[in-house]
Amino acid sequence: MTAIPETFSYAAALACARCGRPYPIHQIQQFADCCQQPLLVQYDWEPGFCKEDLLFREKTMWRYFEALPVSERKHIISLGEGMTPLFQLSSLGSEQDFADLWMKDESGNPTGSFKARGMSVAISKAKELGIHRCIVPTAGNAGGALAAYCAKAGMECTVVMPRHTPSVFKDECRLYGANLVLVDGLISDCAKKVGEVNREKDWFDLSTLKEPYRLEGKKTMGYELAEQFNWQLPDYILYPAGGGTGLIGIWKAFKEMLSAGWLAPGTSLPKMIAVQSMECAPLVRAFYQPQQWKQGFQPQPSIANGLAVPYPFGMDMMLEVLQQSGGLAMAVSESAIKKALQQVARQEGLLISPEGAATWAALLQLRNAGHIDPGARIVLLNTGSGYKYLENLQ
Ligand SMILES: Cc1ncc(COP(=O)(O)O)c(C=O)c1O
Ligand SMILES: [Zn+2]
Repeated sequence: MTAIPETFSYAAALACARCGRPYPIHQIQQFADCCQQPLLVQYDWEPGFCKEDLLFREKTMWRYFEALPVSERKHIISLGEGMTPLFQLSSLGSEQDFADLWMKDESGNPTGSFKARGMSVAISKAKELGIHRCIVPTAGNAGGALAAYCAKAGMECTVVMPRHTPSVFKDECRLYGANLVLVDGLISDCAKKVGEVNREKDWFDLSTLKEPYRLEGKKTMGYELAEQFNWQLPDYILYPAGGGTGLIGIWKAFKEMLSAGWLAPGTSLPKMIAVQSMECAPLVRAFYQPQQWKQGFQPQPSIANGLAVPYPFGMDMMLEVLQQSGGLAMAVSESAIKKALQQVARQEGLLISPEGAATWAALLQLRNAGHIDPGARIVLLNTGSGYKYLENLQ
């Protein structure tokens, strides 16, 4: 057994996602000014960290410590996130003739969503860099997660959230001691508000992909999928995309594992299918009409709060993942999301988030259109718990 080292990270550098320009990793960073793109952490794993090391490690995402950017274990702020279950959806699968259908269920994470992964890494790194005050625009789950990790880290936290978000999302932020600011509009309006606040305050901005480390937490979903499937990857992953951190992160994980030799050379990577709501589907528009996607775009709120992200900062990176993987983007209706959520609850005993339910609705549409092989190994990503959305589901 190889214990997790106390101090160590193979994190070598930060680089602009578009042009590769290096940025110092030991300083506080937001995004790459050169191309107005996210910053990516690059690792050098020579020598030493191998997948056999994982056998006896803790059952949280921190088992991948060497693949994460925190230099000292004492700076880790953890609430037990990650290593979430992978369920075979046998009832839905056999009813709808899918031979090998799975759900990676993120609902058991602290604060009830996969946002815990990103915030755990980002707040750990923020602590390591001496940051005391954080702010985030959110569709709901990221705000609750940031509030909880800031509480654990003893940091101050401000969360800016659309007023129409279900009350649980607001209540949890207040209970964790965050300062909650409500805005009429979508997350893009909340982001503007963060910009206004920060003209005076200069608090650390944890907006999606505008700092480098939430992505690192989210990528651990890719490591877990590979480990849980015994280092074989599925044929398709359906992911509910808003800002895109999970989509980009999972793909980053696959590439890192390939270059580290954790996946056999020539392993074919999954086709990544990004799912959005018809109420707000910028990625679908950009995927099919890259030049004119903003024309006539009128984003609306969705029951799947997290998908209503009108102008994602990581748009180019999301499109790149779809292209590189041979995947696609598609939108589903609000009624299809609600129906899918009920089906998964009744047949699988899982009360999943509307965002996660959107992936089941999307899979049925893809199969009916003949775009997916029902015999393939398919993973749906349920990104959060349905319990937080109940007031919108009645
Ligand atoms: C439950 C849930 N699913 C999916 C998303 C979209 O996540 P990402 O930013 O990784 O695309 C969100 C974001 O708020 C969310 O809360
Ligand atoms: Zn650049």
